[in-house]
Amino acid sequence: MEHKRWYKDMVFYQIWPRSFKDGNGDGMGDLWGVLEKLDYIKSLGCDGIWFSPVYPSPGADCGYDIADYKDIAPEFGGMEAFKKVLDGVHERGMKLIMDLVVNHTSDEHEWFEKSRRKIEPYTDYYIWRPKKPNGKLPNNWDSNFEGKAWTLDKVRGEYYLHLFAVKQPDLNMDNPLVRQEVKDILKFWLDMGVDGFREDVITYISKKEGLPNDRVFPIYKGMWHYNHGPHIHEYLAEFKRDVLDNYDCFTLAEAPLISPKRALEYIDEKNGQIDMMIQFESQTADCLFTDYLPTKFSLRRMKKAFSKWQYRLAGKAWNMLYLENHDHPRIISRYGSEKFHDESGKTLAVAYLFQKGTPFIYQGQEIGMTNWRPESPDMYEDVQTVYYYTHSNLKQPPEKRLKKLWRSSRDSARTPMQWSSDKNAGFTSGEPWFYVNDNYKEINVALQENDENSLLNFYRRAIKLRKSLNAVRYGTYKEYFRHSNRLYVYSRESDAQRLLIVCSFSDKPEKLMLPKGFDIFKAKLILKTHQNTDEKLLQPYESRVYLWEKQ
Ligand code: NOJ
Repeated sequence: MEHKRWYKDMVFYQIWPRSFKDGNGDGMGDLWGVLEKLDYIKSLGCDGIWFSPVYPSPGADCGYDIADYKDIAPEFGGMEAFKKVLDGVHERGMKLIMDLVVNHTSDEHEWFEKSRRKIEPYTDYYIWRPKKPNGKLPNNWDSNFEGKAWTLDKVRGEYYLHLFAVKQPDLNMDNPLVRQEVKDILKFWLDMGVDGFREDVITYISKKEGLPNDRVFPIYKGMWHYNHGPHIHEYLAEFKRDVLDNYDCFTLAEAPLISPKRALEYIDEKNGQIDMMIQFESQTADCLFTDYLPTKFSLRRMKKAFSKWQYRLAGKAWNMLYLENHDHPRIISRYGSEKFHDESGKTLAVAYLFQKGTPFIYQGQEIGMTNWRPESPDMYEDVQTVYYYTHSNLKQPPEKRLKKLWRSSRDSARTPMQWSSDKNAGFTSGEPWFYVNDNYKEINVALQENDENSLLNFYRRAIKLRKSLNAVRYGTYKEYFRHSNRLYVYSRESDAQRLLIVCSFSDKPEKLMLPKGFDIFKAKLILKTHQNTDEKLLQPYESRVYLWEKQ
């Protein structure tokens, strides 16, 4: 039997702060802007907010390189604005979670400055290795962003490990002092009143002893030795026992390359160390492992991932449901159709919002923001994109390489939020820090507010419905017609209700297929993407939710 916890009844909204809303006119999204928009977020039916990092940071990885864990960046409004937002969130009966990024810090963090100078007790806060006489790197590991995972630090004369950018040195979590720092950070924010944490690449924090060469992985070398490393469960249990258990909070762990079986070692409600997990399987419906290895979108692959997690966690652990975040291009451009913009946006919403778990919506998803496609590669900001462009496929024609970025880059989904048709999409009265997508006059919040049938208002209706239906929150899940590459059909069932969710991912009319025993003439059609519905046919990207109330 699953535990009842407050986060299970919620829908979260993810804010990527620098592109959400600028409140002070300096061109950068900030917490003053968030404060202005709390009612908007609440109006969606969202009752939780996850902030991507808002801490002081040089910005080498847009805030995921933290220089001070116990403060708020001045460009976001500092602690003053943060406390106002936190109060505003709680006054509205909502919850707020922070991003905890402790696999690495910024190289401009005071700990690193001291560690590279061997000032105690910081000497072993990071993972250092001496130079070898033969000039070889300490091992063959790759970083996720910028070539090899080792950089020689001129000050200390040794190599440090960085699994991400050069400016993101990895912390040495085997050092108890570092773990104590993590616990202090958790306590600091929880004491201030935050309600939990999204834990960045937390499955990477324990590296295999001796840091051996990786002979298994062809790409991302090293992953075999640091993902789900030897002490991971021990360290997470320590954070839980010593801090988290003393608060009514929850944790959400980011976990690249994870199966449900492995996930249960972290999130099983009986003895797990965390509450929910961000898995990547449903992100590979149109790529192999990473957005940089794109393939044709396969609904079948997406459904397989959805169902696998629904079935395997049932009764044991709780799913986190998402389609978009700041690390992946936009879903209408990937899995839907820009031509059938509203229809495919609605179908995508129905496909995941009625599954079992806690849904997360990424800013702009609710209005169907699409991929940004700049004219020149110089316009990209993201460290991963810039490295990729300057180091991969150099022999291919530039247009082809640029097009690849349109499909693969994280910047495709990081442009400013499109609030209105006003200058800069209503995001800022100043000069925006980043490019606004050219389509903001057609796709924006203000336009959709005024249209009852807009994607935005559809999200509102779908969320409201989700919350009113016991079968969605706690019922069982079952998938039908799993071989279809055009329809996604699933049911949810509780003692009192039975639901059938039918989603077409086809740009042509499709025959409405119904599983045996679902008589739609006895059901109520409680949500639909199209005005007129036919008993036999589905229009392109049409979706429906049917309800049977049991006597
Ligand atoms: C995962 C985060 O979501 C991503 O944005 C970041 O670049 C890496 N972890 C490194 O912190």
